Amino acid sequence: MVKFVAEESMLAQASEVLSTQLQQAVDVLHTKTGKGCEFLGWLDFPQNVDNQYISDVKQIAQQIVSQSQVVVLIGIGGSYLGARALIEALCPNFSHPEPEIVYAGHHLSDKYLQKLYNILAKKDYSLVVVSKSGSTIETAATFGLLQRHCIDKYGLTEAKKRIVCITDQKEGILRAIVNKNAYSSLAIPADIGGRYSILTAVGLLPAAVAGLNIEQLMNGAKNMCSQILSSPKNVATQYAMCRTYLQSIGYNIEVLATFEPSLFYFAEWWKQLFAESEGKNHKGIFPTSMIYTTDLHSLGQYMQQGQRIMFETFLTIQYFSNNCKIKEEDLLDKQFNSLKNKSIGEINHLAQKATMKAHKRGNVPIIELNINDLSEYSLGELFYFFEYACAVSAYMQQINPFDQPGVAEYKKELTTLLSQ
Ligand code: PA5
Repeated sequence: MVKFVAEESMLAQASEVLSTQLQQAVDVLHTKTGKGCEFLGWLDFPQNVDNQYISDVKQIAQQIVSQSQVVVLIGIGGSYLGARALIEALCPNFSHPEPEIVYAGHHLSDKYLQKLYNILAKKDYSLVVVSKSGSTIETAATFGLLQRHCIDKYGLTEAKKRIVCITDQKEGILRAIVNKNAYSSLAIPADIGGRYSILTAVGLLPAAVAGLNIEQLMNGAKNMCSQILSSPKNVATQYAMCRTYLQSIGYNIEVLATFEPSLFYFAEWWKQLFAESEGKNHKGIFPTSMIYTTDLHSLGQYMQQGQRIMFETFLTIQYFSNNCKIKEEDLLDKQFNSLKNKSIGEINHLAQKATMKAHKRGNVPIIELNINDLSEYSLGELFYFFEYACAVSAYMQQINPFDQPGVAEYKKELTTLLSQ
C-alpha cells in the first residue's frame, strides 16, 4: 500500500483551485486522447501482461545465471535506471552473490570501461543490452565494444549464448542485430517508452538475474494499477494535485527525501521520470533528491534556511530494520545516554520525524508517501504509482509526458560534432 499524507489545509486549497484541471487530466489519460497517447501501453500493462512473457524472462535469466560470474547491463536513462533502482534497493549491500551485476553504457567514461575490461578478462560473463530505439550513442558504442570483447574471448558460437538484447519488438538497429545474429531477445512493447518501461523486460530481466521475485513485483504493480484505475480520487491523483498546487504558489523544486540510502537509485529513477516527462515548454517542477541523514550534514542547511523555493516529498517506510541495538557499553560518553537500548533503525526513524518537524517549521511544505516495507511488492506498487502520478501531473500542465525533445537536441549536436 502507498499511503499519501499531506496537511488537510494544503489538500483543501489544492482541491479548490485544481480539481477541474485534475479531472480533465485524468480524463485525457483514461480516454487516451492526450498528447503522446500512442505511448500508454504502461497504463494497464501490469494487469494484462501474459504468463508467457514472464516465463520467457525467467528462462533467459536462468540461462544467464548458470553461465556467468558477472552480468554487464548496458543501457542509459529509462533503459537502465529502473533496473538499478530495484537491484540496489533489494540486493545485499556488501556481499555480491554471483552473478554480480555491473553497469555500462550509462556514461562515456573511457577510464570506467578500461577497468571493466580488466574484470571481464578474468571472469565469465554475459551481456544484457537494453535500448528501445537501438540508436542511443552511449549504449551503441559500449555494446559494440563489449560485443567484440565477448566474441574475442568466447568465439562467435559461445558469445551468441552470452548476449541478450532487450529492444523494440520489430523496429530499430538492435532488433536488426538480434535477427542477424540470432541473439536471445525480449521485447519492449512499442507503446511503452523508456522511462515507463521498468515493469517490462527492461526491469524484469535484470531483477530476475539478481534473484528478485518478479512475480511479487508485478503483483504489487497490478494491485496499485487496479486501485488507481478503479477510482479517480486516489493516492496518485492526490499527490499529482498537491505537487501541482505547490508549484502554482511558487515552489518550483521538489525534493524526494528518504532516510533509506538503498533507495538512492530509486530516487535517480524518479528524477528521470519527472524531469523528462514534465520539463518542457519552460514548465515543470525541477525534481531533485536527498538521502538523509547523510545530506542533512550538507544540503540540510539549505533546506532549513535557504531560499523557500522547494517542497519536500518524504518517501517513508513503515517497517524498518531494527537489529543494531546500542547497549550501555557502546555509549562513548554520558551525553549519548539517550541512545541506550535504541536501535540504529529507531534512531533513524526519530531523525526522520525530527527532520519533518524542523523543515515544516522552516516553511518547507511537506508531503509524505509511505510504503509498507522494502520489498518487490512495495516497489512494484511505487513504480506504478509514480508513473501514473507523473503522467497526470504533466497533463495538468498541458505537457506531453511521453516525449523528450530536449534530449534529442544534445544528441543532434553530438552527432554533428562526431561527423565533423
Ligand atoms: O525515457 C526515455 O525515453 C529515455 O530516457 C530513454 O530511456 C533513454 O534515452 C535510452 O533510450 P533507448 O532505450 O532508446 O536507448
